[in-house]
Amino acid sequence: MPQSIVVVDYGSQYSRLITRRLRELQVHSVIVPANATVERIVALDPAAVILSGGPNSVNDAGAPTLTPGLLDLGLPVLGVCYGMQLLAKELGGAVGGGGSGEYGKAALRNYSGELFAGVEGDFVAWMSHGDAVVRLPAGFTAVAESSSGVTAAMEDPERRLYGLQFHPEVNHTPKGMAVLERFITLAGAPRDWTPESIVEAAVANVRERVGKERVLLGISGGVDSTTLGLLLHQAIGEQLVAVFVDHGLLRLGEAEEVERALRGLGVNVTVVDASERFVSALAGVTDPEAKRKVIGREFIEVFTAEARRQQAGGAIRFLAQGTLYPDVIESAGVPGAANIKSHHNVGGLPADLQFELVEPFRELFKDEVREIAERLGLAPHLRDRHPFPGPGLAVRIIGEVTEERLDVLRRVDDVFISALREFDLYHDTWQALAVLTPLRSVGVMGDGRTYANTVALRAVSSIDGMTADWTRLPHEFLATVANRIVNAVPEVNRVVYDITSKPPATIEWE
Ligand code: XMP
Repeated sequence: MPQSIVVVDYGSQYSRLITRRLRELQVHSVIVPANATVERIVALDPAAVILSGGPNSVNDAGAPTLTPGLLDLGLPVLGVCYGMQLLAKELGGAVGGGGSGEYGKAALRNYSGELFAGVEGDFVAWMSHGDAVVRLPAGFTAVAESSSGVTAAMEDPERRLYGLQFHPEVNHTPKGMAVLERFITLAGAPRDWTPESIVEAAVANVRERVGKERVLLGISGGVDSTTLGLLLHQAIGEQLVAVFVDHGLLRLGEAEEVERALRGLGVNVTVVDASERFVSALAGVTDPEAKRKVIGREFIEVFTAEARRQQAGGAIRFLAQGTLYPDVIESAGVPGAANIKSHHNVGGLPADLQFELVEPFRELFKDEVREIAERLGLAPHLRDRHPFPGPGLAVRIIGEVTEERLDVLRRVDDVFISALREFDLYHDTWQALAVLTPLRSVGVMGDGRTYANTVALRAVSSIDGMTADWTRLPHEFLATVANRIVNAVPEVNRVVYDITSKPPATIEWE
């Protein structure tokens, strides 16, 4: 494990983004909850520490405090927003709630000092705070202020302690990355977190973990499991038993394409075509959670049967899963979120078919999986695909899932997604999808009356799917797509565009 910059999470919605940004700058970074002990932080071999923002006021009773002993380590520390205020308070400065705070973009005045070295011109910073540092601790100087006179940055270069009142990690702070990069340089953190080194480390880990044993992998058709197949193939070759359960709920041509890509790159994948079975099991099921349960159950059954068949050909000790870093990061202490939708994975296998888990992506963000997919040779249009839910198109067909309705939705989706690519808008949106609603409405085509399906298109902008806003796709584009859909798919005579954000709506309709 390379040296890390440890991000202590005080509950800001941007904490993970700091970790991602550092990794974009090729520094390994991990995130720990606010209550992590100093021993735990030391065990991560930190090159430096960043204290994140958070929703509390440092002066509130019960607000999270600085990890005892952390500053005694003598490591470079950068406090961001709440983190800066914690530093100030801990070191004898003062934090006050004076004024009404600053929210949104602010222009910095008189920025200088080590953190801003090399940065020139106007500096727009994203602010989101009620409190501010009103008295600097001894040894610190203010190195930037906001237009309303608030201390926007402070530093004590001797002790390598820094504070930023704004968020350098968000896009709304255009020069924020330069400041983070300065901190990395000042901290002397190694910049060795590259796709090559990630692949190398993952391959070595897998080899060490599994030795000569066989590893079972369920491939869903998504980017994560496909890339995992490639990585495992590179690490252990023929010891990999790759099983692609085609549940028949994928997009047009997707199953074939994924199979071809894997085979083309040397992975010996067994495809189990279970589409009829899934569609039969879904007959008459209209409740969204019930659909998810049926699909989860069928998946386990099909996968179990195939695993047993493969076991018959030689013992399999391990099961690989594409668990990602966001699934394993502990929350900052925010009470458990409600279960909005049940996601399925390969948990729940029968007792006599238990495996040891291998999770080579446990440390990785989705962008990093995409980067290593590139290193491993996965074609661009397969590795850059939008997220796609495990239960597939079943949760995009409102009401009963039938072969006919799947067929309609596949063609609609294909028109929409192909057009996004054609107009170079595919990456202007985080995820785009089509929904087949249970509505039918009256239309006119040629001289005739039609009474046909309504489809909804949805495209959202998001950083992690937790919250999202609807993407403002150009009206001209939407007009073209609607036109193409009704022409290409006669079963559809009306197209609507979903303009709700998440929350309150979710991204998928079911
Ligand atoms: P929602 O609809 O909850 O979706 O706003 C958030 C993100 O998760 C995806 N999603 C799933 N992914 N299995 C998955 O692997 C699932 O069961 C599942 N349900 C939703 C969804 O596409 C979006 O990206």
